Amino acid sequence: MTETTDKASRRRFLTGAAGLVAAGAAGPIVRADDKNLPPHVAEWTKQLGEGVGTRPYGTPSKFEKDVIRRTVPWLTATPESSVSFTPLHALDGIITPNGVCFERHHGGIAEVKPDDYRLMIHGLVDKPLMFTLEDLKRLPRVNRIYFLECAANSGMEWRGAQLNGAQYTHGMVHCVQYTGVPLKLLLEQAGVKPSAKWLMVEGGDSAGMNRSVPLAKALDDCLIAYRMNGEMLRPEQGYPARLVVPGWEGNMWVKWIRRIKVGDQPWFAREETSKYTDLLENGKARQFTFVMDAKSVITSPSPQVPVKGGKGFTVISGLAWSGRGKVARVDVSLDGGRNWRTAKIDGPVFDKACVRFYYEFDWNGEELLLQSRAIDDTGYVQPSKDDLRKVRGVNSIYHNNGIQTWALKKDGEVENVEVG
Ligand code: MTE
Ligand code: CO
Repeated sequence: MTETTDKASRRRFLTGAAGLVAAGAAGPIVRADDKNLPPHVAEWTKQLGEGVGTRPYGTPSKFEKDVIRRTVPWLTATPESSVSFTPLHALDGIITPNGVCFERHHGGIAEVKPDDYRLMIHGLVDKPLMFTLEDLKRLPRVNRIYFLECAANSGMEWRGAQLNGAQYTHGMVHCVQYTGVPLKLLLEQAGVKPSAKWLMVEGGDSAGMNRSVPLAKALDDCLIAYRMNGEMLRPEQGYPARLVVPGWEGNMWVKWIRRIKVGDQPWFAREETSKYTDLLENGKARQFTFVMDAKSVITSPSPQVPVKGGKGFTVISGLAWSGRGKVARVDVSLDGGRNWRTAKIDGPVFDKACVRFYYEFDWNGEELLLQSRAIDDTGYVQPSKDDLRKVRGVNSIYHNNGIQTWALKKDGEVENVEVG
């Protein structure tokens, strides 16, 4: 093709595709040097691709290399007792891909050999039991989609807007499908004594992390999970087995779980296990704050994903969840909480799982203050940060479920801000 015919055919192409081009607000999409764009034959079309088997365990496209867990090194003293954050801004739907689920370890990632794995149940039981991984896999199993949120998620934001990105302000949450054995089944096999009320649950990592879990919760919906999103748990998430405590704070979801001791009172009453408390303004502390209240965040646009291409049709996308049940509704505000409109929830709505919401609108290019608020099926409405501070003060790190505000600037950039 000569220069001239090339240009002429491109002009024809552009005229023919006028409807398509107009659909986006982005303006001309074809540049003279775009040899890969129609009407040219792209370079990847001119040669054979790699054959099957060259990627025995697939990874995302190399062009998505920035969609990764990220850390904030100054947050903690060591990487072994630290956190990495889910790239919420770059995901959609409700399922978090296994490779980018946030991690929170107190003593690093334990590399448990599956053949040497054991789960012991003892204490106030008729028959102490020891399960191998194969034993667990022989038992009846269920599949459940749940969110897991660290109690410290958004913990840096209590005193004001701090971190510029949904990944950092809200990325200590993930939502996957677990496959595992109901804990009730294991406890029934062991025969829990009538006086039993609490469990002490212990992990096999170097932190020997342990927590007290009320027996009633264990019998209700807890799982010993060994799979996430179909495959075996990742080492970071507790391979080969972890406790799943639906709707409750992440620290109770003991990873690399090795022991469950049944008792008649909370084990932290005897200083045997620790628990998280929330320090209030008056010096008192809230405790037994196990449930994660309803919360939501707009994941896009957000500081790491500004609006490109200027004003016009725009989709706001976000996540909402509640530890008390189902998300009933999500509202979106474009003016910092003065006016609210109902967002569209798309995709499945499960108990104690994330839902995906969208709000579609025509952006006039003016500055907006974007917010979302979740309402769950108990009628609970996610509070503003100021309302939350009125009852909790700012001393706590934990349980910050206040409404997040993103300022969308005229140039499409987005910033973490607070409104009065
Ligand atoms: N279990 C063990 N054994 N050790 C740990 O450090 N961290 C807890 C919990 N279970 C932890 C653990 C905390 S604080 C959280 S928020 C979740 O695991 C994080 O789970 P994830 O790493 O799968 O995201
Ligand atoms: Co945590």
